[in-house]
Amino acid sequence: MQKTLTDTTSMNYTRLGRTGLTVSVAGLGCGGHSRLGQASGASEAQSISVVKAAIDMGINFIDTAAVYGTEEIVGRSLGNMREKVVISSKEQIVSKGSSPLEGEVISGEALKTRVEASLKRLNTDYIDILHLHGVMPDQYLQCRQNLVPALYDLKTQGKIRFLGITERFIYDTSHKMLSKALTDDFWDVVMIGFNLLNSSAKRKILPKCRSNEIAALCMFAVRRALSQPDALRTLIKQLSDNKIVNAAEFDPDNPLGFLISEGGAESVVDGAYRFCRHVEGLNVILTGTGNIGHLKQNIASINRGPLQPSCLHKLAALFGHIDSVSGE
Ligand SMILES: NC(=O)c1ccc[n+]([C@@H]2O[C@H](COP(=O)([O-])OP(=O)(O)OC[C@H]3O[C@@H](n4cnc5c(N)ncnc54)[C@H](OP(=O)(O)O)[C@@H]3O)[C@@H](O)[C@H]2O)c1
Repeated sequence: MQKTLTDTTSMNYTRLGRTGLTVSVAGLGCGGHSRLGQASGASEAQSISVVKAAIDMGINFIDTAAVYGTEEIVGRSLGNMREKVVISSKEQIVSKGSSPLEGEVISGEALKTRVEASLKRLNTDYIDILHLHGVMPDQYLQCRQNLVPALYDLKTQGKIRFLGITERFIYDTSHKMLSKALTDDFWDVVMIGFNLLNSSAKRKILPKCRSNEIAALCMFAVRRALSQPDALRTLIKQLSDNKIVNAAEFDPDNPLGFLISEGGAESVVDGAYRFCRHVEGLNVILTGTGNIGHLKQNIASINRGPLQPSCLHKLAALFGHIDSVSGE
């Protein structure tokens, strides 16, 4: 008998910190380089089939954002399944046309208008987790002043259920913004850049999340460096040229081959997702893809056991000190 996707996948679920929501440990990321395949020309129907396959395989956590152009696809995919999934979406914090990195933060009223537009695109009355998207360290104070009151209004009106904030990891690899944000008690959920090349959030962010029951979503588990062998070789060469790692410790052709030979991973991608999954305090590992085959493999990886302890020690020795890399 032909196996269905569900036959081959067993999903684990976890509590999403203080939200109390029960969510799958693997979350579908509708942004990143794939945007459900939209970035490489997939049709809307193909992207909808990725969302439906994810739900069929047990995913109930879906992350999108106004700027990804995938909110409508998520809305159309869900139909009468809205109640079965947790929707996480995000709004940009600067006006259209101004620099996302340095632009002035918009007003609370402007944020509310953006959320109304997201609700329409998502075809829903409420967004479970609404994040401020890609906040830079110097923008945080203005977000706190202009936007947090608006988020609480939206929550009172039932339009959002929980407050979230995401860092701009490519430019803030050492988590400066989140270090500031976690001195406040507004945030129920944070989205963190984390992977085996830069696991600095383990020291800098996750202890505070755990002690305050703030849920952490993991982005960048794989990204380019850990999914494309050429990108990995280039990155390791750059790191060794900059004396951040020692080239002699790596096979130049296959720098992370030891994840397979020593760690028990099936592939670098498998090892990369499993590395993140077993870090205490990371609740959901996001996987962004437009490819149902990849999705199936990644869900299996995220639900497998940890890498061998000796391999984890080796990763810590090679990369544990790094906080300047995103893996972009
Ligand atoms: N808040 C923010 O600022 C922010 C920033 C970045 C990401 N995010 C969120 O986090 C999510 C996850 O991040 P991400 O998209 O970078 O995800 P990721 O899971 O770290 O990396 C996804 C990339 O790896 C490739 N890939 C995935 N599985 C693969 C496999 N089994 N074999 C080979 N290649 C594979 C994908 O290409 P294919 O399509 O070919 O599979 C895609 O290009 C995003 O979708 C988004 O929801 C948020």
